[in-house]
Amino acid sequence: MTKRFDDQVVLITGGGSGLGQAAALQVAKEGAKLSLVDLNEKGLEETKAKIAEVAPEAEVLLLTANVANEDEVKNYVDQTVEKYGRIDGFFNNAGIEGKQNLTEDFGAEEFNKVVNINLNGVFYGMQYVLKVMKEQGSGSIVNTASVGGIRGVGNQSGYAASKHGVVGLTRNSAIEYGQYGVSVKAIAPGAIMTPMVEGSLKQMGGDNWEEVGKEFVEPNPMKRFGKPEEVGYLVAFLLSNQANFINAAVIPIDGGQSYKY
Ligand SMILES: NC(=O)c1ccc[n+]([C@@H]2O[C@H](COP(=O)([O-])OP(=O)(O)OC[C@H]3O[C@@H](n4cnc5c(N)ncnc54)[C@H](O)[C@@H]3O)[C@@H](O)[C@H]2O)c1
Repeated sequence: MTKRFDDQVVLITGGGSGLGQAAALQVAKEGAKLSLVDLNEKGLEETKAKIAEVAPEAEVLLLTANVANEDEVKNYVDQTVEKYGRIDGFFNNAGIEGKQNLTEDFGAEEFNKVVNINLNGVFYGMQYVLKVMKEQGSGSIVNTASVGGIRGVGNQSGYAASKHGVVGLTRNSAIEYGQYGVSVKAIAPGAIMTPMVEGSLKQMGGDNWEEVGKEFVEPNPMKRFGKPEEVGYLVAFLLSNQANFINAAVIPIDGGQSYKY
């Protein structure tokens, strides 16, 4: 039986944890050849081991890189093209939340750190991958924004600025590259239970973080956290050829919370 990602090459940043890992597992099950990028080498090895369980045939290239470093981004794109000859899907996803603080206390250093990874990192990735996809005449990019990229959340100056920026980059490039058969879209996840959200709850609640988590999801219409695999299904669809005409769209996956008054 043919699968959605047979003969397709998918490149994923932040592939060593959370949403990147979930998307990697999903597309690997559906036949993709993978190139996984992360700062955290151990995380990459963990994802590779999990892929081996669900898709033993899948080819997986692991690349340790900092997405905030332009040369390292160029290198992970070059290495992927060298190995596979093309890039069909790019999940441009690595990011951090940063420390939570009021704007006046946020600090320029923390602000710059978050923006460098979440916004500059996404831009560098698009810059090199779009060139490859334009030459191919096909491809799909999914950038990871956030509910914090379409709504105000509070205490997250760096995160809010960077994720709103990701939405801007998505729309801008989508308009430029649609004519080459390349689509660019973004997802805006709400709170999905990954190591990042666990860390965030620990910032708010310390040892009491699980209780804080229950209160945190109380305003959500579905009264729960999202699961990484739910995001994995969405990303796989958006990266697949079934979603080629979805371009410039920013898709919330948040149980409806961002639409609530
Ligand atoms: N989990 C959520 O609720 C949620 C909600 C909205 C948006 N997001 C976004 O989803 C993306 C993935 O988050 P997650 O929840 O899976 O977090 P996570 O911490 O589980 O995974 C993020 C991965 O990115 C990697 N990473 C961080 N900085 C990097 C860098 N400079 N270079 C290369 N790799 C780097 C980390 O090592 C980690 O493996 C992020 O962009 C995050 O902002 C997450």
